[in-house]
Amino acid sequence: MKFSDRVSLQTTAPLVECLQSLSQQPQTPFYAPGHKRGQGIPPNLKQWLGKTVFTADLPELPEFDNLFAPQGVIAAAQNLAAECFGAAQTWFLVNGSTSGVVAAILATCNPGDKLILPRNSHQSAIAGLVLSGAVPIFINPEYDPHRDLTLNVTPAAVQAALNAHPDSKAVFLVNPTYQGICSDLAAIASLVHQHHLPLIIDEAHGAHFGFHENLPPAALSVKADITIQSTHKVLGAMSQAAMLHQQGDRVSPQRISQTLQFVQSTSPNALLLASLDAARQQIATQGQALMAQTLQYSDRARHQIAQIPGLSVLNPPDTGQPGFFALDRTRLTVWVDKLGLTGFEADEILNEQLNIVAELPLLRSLTFMITLGNTAADITALCQGFATLAHRPQIPLTVDAVSPSTPLPQLALTPRQAYFAPTETISSQKARDRISAELICPYPPGIPILMPGEVITADAIAYLQQVLALGGQITGCSDPTLTTLRVVKS
Ligand SMILES: Cc1ncc(COP(=O)(O)O)c(C=O)c1O
Repeated sequence: MKFSDRVSLQTTAPLVECLQSLSQQPQTPFYAPGHKRGQGIPPNLKQWLGKTVFTADLPELPEFDNLFAPQGVIAAAQNLAAECFGAAQTWFLVNGSTSGVVAAILATCNPGDKLILPRNSHQSAIAGLVLSGAVPIFINPEYDPHRDLTLNVTPAAVQAALNAHPDSKAVFLVNPTYQGICSDLAAIASLVHQHHLPLIIDEAHGAHFGFHENLPPAALSVKADITIQSTHKVLGAMSQAAMLHQQGDRVSPQRISQTLQFVQSTSPNALLLASLDAARQQIATQGQALMAQTLQYSDRARHQIAQIPGLSVLNPPDTGQPGFFALDRTRLTVWVDKLGLTGFEADEILNEQLNIVAELPLLRSLTFMITLGNTAADITALCQGFATLAHRPQIPLTVDAVSPSTPLPQLALTPRQAYFAPTETISSQKARDRISAELICPYPPGIPILMPGEVITADAIAYLQQVLALGGQITGCSDPTLTTLRVVKS
């Protein structure tokens, strides 16, 4: 559908209008939530946020529809979203892409089925493996050792996995990565569909792709069967508000509806749902202009920061390289190691001294999300912040480059088998070659370094300890100091 056609259909926000009208109707409420349209809300919250927001925190009243059996305004809003993003059907999610990823795996894999997926998938995909009992066939994304940068997967790697495991049930990919790095998605979709398999794309960071020609191709445009987007990350929705889109006949919409009920609350927050409707209306009617502006801001920041001695930035690939077909230019990754700083230290300085907060600090770099919410003043502050940061003695940082997942760690048990196996806690010094029972990730980005069922390598332990020592955050470990690890009992 042409953008101009979309606009004429997309100017309304039925869910927002319904909620607004319901919240203004006089009522004597004997339903949950217990604060009864703000009457019982704790005074400090009311004083801070005002009353309006709580009058709209309503349950699934008959006029408002039901998320799990939509027939009224939720159905209308979801249909508008499907039309806007180019899907056959869209489901609104109130538990983030996390719930969409888990539901997509549960909808496509039975226990014992093989799922092809990259080793650097988000932790929600590993949760999907544990819950479904699917057997992962991991493919390694490409890795650029010079920049210590994990790229994306190549069509050749997907083809090799399909050839080696023709009995797989689905292919799951992450596109873009946190840094905005995209695969050759059209080529991969064509390969996967030649094998008559569904392609699931975790597009948590790419809900904006369909709205400007200078952004990478959207998963829906290359006919991905299931696409999951964190609308809250890159468009105007509130935290946790996300969407799952489906098209084609390779996955049953009934099974998606069913599995989404397993992983979401039966009391969905009406404000989150309304924010999805409003975010769709906004991007459908103003997407082109908003994305043009966002791209202009991010290009300005990339260009100016690249001029600062000691800093380097991630630029779009000239001709495409393996695992790096295209870059989402609204993501800005800046390497600070030549300033003698880790990404964590640079983040602390920018945050504490200059109030500039990055999305993803890593050992050598920082990644910034530039979205429709940023202003010209934000970009000026970011460039000035880096100029200030660079105004210091430049002593290159020596951090060992440890790529924790090259080569692929050995999988001794499926994630589900390891998760449910008897376990014991041992010193991490003795954990090498044992089978991990834990899902351990530096957060962000929430990509597991150790996952249940994997044989623990010395590199993985060294990497996690390095991240912790240099100020990064680690989640999922029973011992936050990493002195001990939980492993499968031998
Ligand atoms: C690649 C990827 N997939 C899924 C998720 C989960 O998204 P959400 O926070 O919306 O649950 C994230 C979150 O950071 C992510 O980076």
